[in-house]
Amino acid sequence: MDFVTWFLVSGLIALVIGYFLSGPNNLPPGPRPLPLLGNTRDLQDGSPHLLFYQWAKKYGNVMRIYYGTKMMIVLSGYKVIHDCLVKKSQIFANRPPLYINNTVTGINGVSQLRVGRRMVEQRKFVYNCLREVGRLGKIDLERKIFEEIEVMVCWLIFLQVMFHVFDELKEKPFDPHGVISKAVANTLSNICFGFRFEYDDPRFLKLLGTVPADGSVVLTADLLQHLPMLRFLPKYRDMLKAVFVMADNFIGVIRDEIDEHVKRFKPENEACDIIDAFLLEMHRAEVNGDKDSSFSRKQMEWFVGDLFIGGSASPTFQLVWTLVLLVANPEVYKRVENEIDDVIGSARPPKASDRSKMPYTEATILEVLRYSSPAPLAIPHCTTEEVKVEGYTIPANTVVTPNLFSIDRDPKTWKHPFEFYPGHFLDEDGSFHRPEAFLPFSAGTRVCPGEALAKLEIFIFLTSLLQRYHFRLPEGAPPLDTRHGETSNYVRLPRDLVAVKRT
Ligand code: HEM
Repeated sequence: MDFVTWFLVSGLIALVIGYFLSGPNNLPPGPRPLPLLGNTRDLQDGSPHLLFYQWAKKYGNVMRIYYGTKMMIVLSGYKVIHDCLVKKSQIFANRPPLYINNTVTGINGVSQLRVGRRMVEQRKFVYNCLREVGRLGKIDLERKIFEEIEVMVCWLIFLQVMFHVFDELKEKPFDPHGVISKAVANTLSNICFGFRFEYDDPRFLKLLGTVPADGSVVLTADLLQHLPMLRFLPKYRDMLKAVFVMADNFIGVIRDEIDEHVKRFKPENEACDIIDAFLLEMHRAEVNGDKDSSFSRKQMEWFVGDLFIGGSASPTFQLVWTLVLLVANPEVYKRVENEIDDVIGSARPPKASDRSKMPYTEATILEVLRYSSPAPLAIPHCTTEEVKVEGYTIPANTVVTPNLFSIDRDPKTWKHPFEFYPGHFLDEDGSFHRPEAFLPFSAGTRVCPGEALAKLEIFIFLTSLLQRYHFRLPEGAPPLDTRHGETSNYVRLPRDLVAVKRT
């Protein structure tokens, strides 16, 4: 190599390394990236929220990491996350391109929408549909959830009867995820399509494919979302193929249901479910000659898809975690059971208004949300313009990930951050108290629109189950290890439970 070539090559290498290490434009600090690979090697580990939590201790609450050459800013701690997502909400409200989601949905639905009229209109529409219980036409959410509970109890009784036949009086363990995911998904079917599926209906099984019992797929997908070139590697190619097949099956069922609704749609009729309500908005836009309306057939397909996935996966995980944590913590379990017996009794089903009279149960539900961190990294955000955070500069169009897990483990807010302790949500006289620094549904412009529904649903499902059954481990099973720190709810708790009917 002559001197000039040597000089140019070294200069180029120095430039690349300098670009990554020097932090131009006052960028925040972060772990040392490798040229071209960035921090990808560390990120393959499978629990990015834990890694970010550890890194934040070294690099601070505003941190820079690299997926390949693509920069991402990770925010940690309540103050910084709140400052960005709430106080500067418009600047942090955008979504970055995510390879899998964008390819599958064509940027339709809710969760992938970029900032603009479409996002505002569609989010407003979700709220109109979900926020006020019973507001959508004839839908009475409380009643619909109750219908589902009846089915679920039947399902459990059916299981018990079957087990009785097979095992003669011996209670047979069951997989709580299998049972609960079906019941929760059917609540969403009711809200979206206006009816519930039989559990063995092949269409229902296609929908259920999107409620994974093992979230490791989600984590493997995380890298691919930001680094699409990985799709050429066999590991990711096979995973991607499976995701596309699952998405096709899923959206196929929704398309068929929309077709059925279109056939019988009459604008003068009251909307009975979300598809009807969406068709009504499309009709209104057409009548008003609103050519820029965001209500279109393509948008409707993934709108329903987003609600179904968002509304099924997290509440299912939440309920499974709650049962498992209660079984693992008998004192907490006893207090919740006693409160249900005192306030609701056994003669009538639970109702939404019971919540305010049951501080310990409410505290337990929120503590499960904190402890299990259901959506530890929310959905990636993206900046709309250059912005200063804690003295650092974050350029426009930068991917920003709020690490909600860091809020859930902050010793400044929680007395026992790594323990399951419902007392975190109770004050000294035992009344319910929610610390401000708690954001399991995220915050700001993109806050989860399903928060109210999720909380009600979890309360009703849980109290109805505990009112009728006592859950325990199968005989001889080793004690549960629910230590949380190495895992999140992405990792399925590998435990069967036994449901014993309460007398
Ligand atoms: C325990 C239950 C739930 C948890 C913990 C949860 C959490 C979250 C979180 C953290 C986000 C991301 C917010 C952000 O990007 O900053 C989100 C978004 C979303 N959630 Fe939920 N969620 C739950 C239940 C639901 C339910 C029941 C529905 C609907 C029926 C729903 C629908 C959505 C939608 C549509 C989005 C996207 C919002 C947007 O991008 O503008 N979620 N959720």
